[in-house]
Amino acid sequence: MVDVLLGLQWGDEGKGKIADFITPQYDIVARFQGGPNAGHSLHFNGKKFVLNTIPSGIFRENCINIIGNGVVADPQRLNKEIENIANEGIDIKNNLLISKKTHLILPTHRVLDAANEASKGDKKIGSTLRGIGPTYMDKTGRNGLRMGDILTYDFESKYRELTNKHLKLIQNLSYTEFNLEEIEKPFFESLEFLRNFKFIDSEYYINNAIIQNKKILAEGAQGSLLDIDFGTYPFVTSSNTTAGGVCTGLGVPPKAINKVIGIFKAYCTRVGSGPFPTELNDELGEKIRQNGMEFGATTGRPRRTGWLDLPALNYAVMINGVSELVMMKSDVLSGIENINVCVSYKTGNENYEMLPFDIADSHITPVYENFRGWNENLSVLRNYSELPTSFKNYCNNISAKTKCPISIISVGPDREETIYCN
Ligand code: IMP
Repeated sequence: MVDVLLGLQWGDEGKGKIADFITPQYDIVARFQGGPNAGHSLHFNGKKFVLNTIPSGIFRENCINIIGNGVVADPQRLNKEIENIANEGIDIKNNLLISKKTHLILPTHRVLDAANEASKGDKKIGSTLRGIGPTYMDKTGRNGLRMGDILTYDFESKYRELTNKHLKLIQNLSYTEFNLEEIEKPFFESLEFLRNFKFIDSEYYINNAIIQNKKILAEGAQGSLLDIDFGTYPFVTSSNTTAGGVCTGLGVPPKAINKVIGIFKAYCTRVGSGPFPTELNDELGEKIRQNGMEFGATTGRPRRTGWLDLPALNYAVMINGVSELVMMKSDVLSGIENINVCVSYKTGNENYEMLPFDIADSHITPVYENFRGWNENLSVLRNYSELPTSFKNYCNNISAKTKCPISIISVGPDREETIYCN
């Protein structure tokens, strides 16, 4: 049986915390897409850990963590991440399994990412520049190299062939800000390191685990509105961040999927360019950014902030078939007197609740419903019954409008700062 945990907004919803929180219920946690563009922050025992490629179950004893075929991995970053975790005394060699079909981010993929972005001028996506887009392009263009390839005798010649193709593209873009030798050296050193790890046919491993009634959690990265098909294209990432990505990114049959747990923040954030109908470009937006410490876990970039957008949330609930919601960062809205929630969009005299096809180009105005705020510090509360009435009213409204129950409310970054709703 496979449960899915994914983000319903533009990423950074707090999936890492919830994945870590619920992993005791699972035997296996598997990442199905994305790569080191993700930054899943986990807080416990007074420390903060940021995971980029490794699934969030890694700090739990006896939990197997799989990097799935749908992921793109940068050997250098993975190497560093493994070392950081091993320093905590975690048995990572036995608890981390890597799909042979995981695609490799080469140093020149990162250069291509930077070159592409530089060539777009003010149309740039605001990519994390981790080489994600170019690696997925090589995957779908049938040129890519995979983890399993690093175990083959002719890896270096395959590598050279692909890198030479990249160099031509980079030259065409007149991009010169890199030194190939300098970026290749640590790449090859990391491959040496990674060769000691376990590479598996993860689709077989996972399907065997399903037959053995193991409990599996498929962990998503980024968010539904950054999905390559359903996100705010072209301001998206290059993978399927939505539930369909679980099937293709792990080899899980659709009928094996049980619960889909959708994570969202009590408000919205977005990092990078692209449409954001409910964005707050004012003092309140700044207050939410500061209260919520809305700065990228991966890049440190300040995140754009705004009100909760229900048409967008409903869209994500629909695409993913969400069975339960988890609301994050509820504590951040404490002390705001009036809280807005976007319930529809308006262009001219027309009001609608669907996300427009051309959201990146259309001038839509959000239509808001107003809620009374709360002053209580939610982060010290642990039981649903202790929550202020106006906050419960906010939650009940979201639940009613999404037609989806909220099962967990997060009131702070720590494992302890979590409230079950039933
Ligand atoms: P890329 O995936 O690095 O190419 O970035 C494409 C877009 O997705 C940019 O706007 C990024 O800021 C955004 N993005 C990528 N990964 C994440 C994430 O994990 N959280 C939030 N935004 C992300």
